[in-house]
Amino acid sequence: MTLPTLLRAMPKAELHVHIEGTLEPELIFRLAERNGVVLPYASVEALRAAYAFSDLQSFLDIYYAGASVLLKEADFFEMAWAYFERAAADGVVHAELFFDPQTHTARGVAMETVITGLHRACQRAHAELGISASLILCFLRHLSEEDAFATLEAALPYRHLFIGVGLDSSERGHPPEKFARVFARCRELGLHLVAHAGEEGPAEYVETALDLLKVERVDHGVRSLDKPALVARLAAERVPLTVCPLSNVKLCVYSDMAAHRLPELLAAGVCVTVNSDDPAYFGGYLLDNYRAVFDAHPALGRDAAYALAANSLEASFVPAEQKARWK
Ligand code: ADE
Ligand code: ZN
Repeated sequence: MTLPTLLRAMPKAELHVHIEGTLEPELIFRLAERNGVVLPYASVEALRAAYAFSDLQSFLDIYYAGASVLLKEADFFEMAWAYFERAAADGVVHAELFFDPQTHTARGVAMETVITGLHRACQRAHAELGISASLILCFLRHLSEEDAFATLEAALPYRHLFIGVGLDSSERGHPPEKFARVFARCRELGLHLVAHAGEEGPAEYVETALDLLKVERVDHGVRSLDKPALVARLAAERVPLTVCPLSNVKLCVYSDMAAHRLPELLAAGVCVTVNSDDPAYFGGYLLDNYRAVFDAHPALGRDAAYALAANSLEASFVPAEQKARWK
């Protein structure tokens, strides 16, 4: 089997995908028309032309504008179902989807609408595509901890429909400790805990995410490389990093894919996983991310491919029995 074929064929988990980041421009325009939402872009082409980002915030401004077309349960379902169809074609067997309820509840959309629409797509993905899927509710870190607590409260009637919480949005200036109390509460509730850290923010945010929020995985985490002792700790404690290569290049964390330091993390023994983050905005879904990494780093071979795919299954939050079936 050639390496490109292997990359597709390997059973893989996707652990870092923002479902709102899978909204393709065509679907944004279709939903805008259906829901009577006026977009600040004249056409699909004009919207796509705006996808030239200089940093995380320049992306987030467009990402939140795109999400404004989501109003009805059917919109959330359609968005997630479109993602699952693409994921199945890429060899994804398990997906843990991030969603940003505050982006929707702030516009008057009910929490129930968001969660039930996404959950219905997860159920159909399992039934029709054989993909197991679950939801992780993310708090927006540019908002207050009080707002995060209110969001958690609103989501608790649907506690059985999501497995964990995360922390996303503008990283710099919003350190993990801002959310220490709400994460402690989520821990008491038995939710899995993850957080974006060390994407644009410093390596210290990775440390505080681990020590103060007690996260089980770190989303991105590539800035950990600024602190060799932290990389050694991640490897020793087998803390997974959900790395998003195309995202890192599009948001100028690295100048190009050849400059991406994923191979160093892998060589250091870190449980690195490959993920797509916001594939509709960053130029590719999961398999595109794997291919981009292997094309730009020819020294990575089949062993690295197997290791990355195995890491993704190991780092997932599925029960041990399901993991055993993947072995
Ligand atoms: N929300 C969606 N994509 C994100 C990213 N790459 N970083 C932080 N927040 C996000
Ligand atoms: Zn992300």
